[in-house]
Amino acid sequence: MRQSVVVGTGSALPPRRVPNAELARTLDTSDEWIVERTGIRARRIAAPEAKTSDFAVAAAESALAAAGLRPEAIDLIILATATPDQTFPATATAVQARLGITGGAAFDVAAVCSGFIYALAVADALLKAGSHERALVIGAELFSRLLDWDDRATAVLFGDGAGAMVLEAREEPGPDPRGILAARIHSDGRHAHLLHVDGGPGSTGTVGKLRMAGREVFRHAVVNLAAVMDETIAAAGVSRAAIDWVVPHQANRRIIEATARKLDLPLSRVVLTVDEHANTSAASVPLAFDVAVRDGRIRPGHLCLLEAMGGGFTWGAVLLRA
Ligand code: UT7
Repeated sequence: MRQSVVVGTGSALPPRRVPNAELARTLDTSDEWIVERTGIRARRIAAPEAKTSDFAVAAAESALAAAGLRPEAIDLIILATATPDQTFPATATAVQARLGITGGAAFDVAAVCSGFIYALAVADALLKAGSHERALVIGAELFSRLLDWDDRATAVLFGDGAGAMVLEAREEPGPDPRGILAARIHSDGRHAHLLHVDGGPGSTGTVGKLRMAGREVFRHAVVNLAAVMDETIAAAGVSRAAIDWVVPHQANRRIIEATARKLDLPLSRVVLTVDEHANTSAASVPLAFDVAVRDGRIRPGHLCLLEAMGGGFTWGAVLLRA
């Protein structure tokens, strides 16, 4: 069976760490409120001159090094972002050029916080179809650029960063194949107004800021995530109890806890990075995955369930054996 196997992961964060207390100096908020309501203690914020592709390239180089591959081995780059360098060309092509890759295909995916799950699903389909052999899948965001720094209800929630995975098409003949076992993605555009940017480059010619009806997004997130996680587990034909690690989108610790409770998945098997990264949108899942690979929690053979939900609404999950 031809499988899309994760052969390397990497991540990159801006050096500047901004703790809650620093935001409380200019916003009517407190470290206590942010920690209690979200689990966030700090976030990384990029320097003004930094671009999304800077972190995407750094995460990609780290993933390629972990895979022991040279850039020219890659014939597919899919980059998930809501904060591209420019309206066009795709940031994926900037990454391709900076890595010195001149062949294959490179394009962006726009599904906001679910972007990495969408990108993995697309990469898996192309690798399994046989048209590509090795994919670099990246989630990279500078969400700080979209924030209204006067809105305490959103400004405290997000951060910047990037994560990457290298996937290789491999024949996996055994009973427990490595690679992506199932991927499910959904969207429902009726809810766009609950989480959106009120402008933006492109057809409107305006620049907007992120707007969110937090409580309503929260409610939808728990229901949609629990449903798609169960759908993905069922599609792969495994049991919930067999899952070694859940690697969730890191939006809010309370969403992650409520979803895990709904599915009877113990928190000891959930990778949490929201405390230090906050919500990095499309970067959050690959960042958390890379942290857990590098600290030795996720090991070859482990069953990992990745999930995310975001603007659109979009949501999805991927079950893979590391
Ligand atoms: O990645 C995309 C998906 N996004 C998400 O998953 C985010 C989902 N939503 C959430 O995580 C939560 O809804 C929030 C963290 C955004 C808000 O938490 P909440 O428990 O739902 O709070 P709330 O919106 O119901 O607000 C409760 C109170 C309000 O004051 P009143 O009206 O009760 O007086 C807010 O004005 O907390 C107030 N508040 C704050 N207070 C201090 C809102 N933001 C802050 C703040 N500091 N930063």
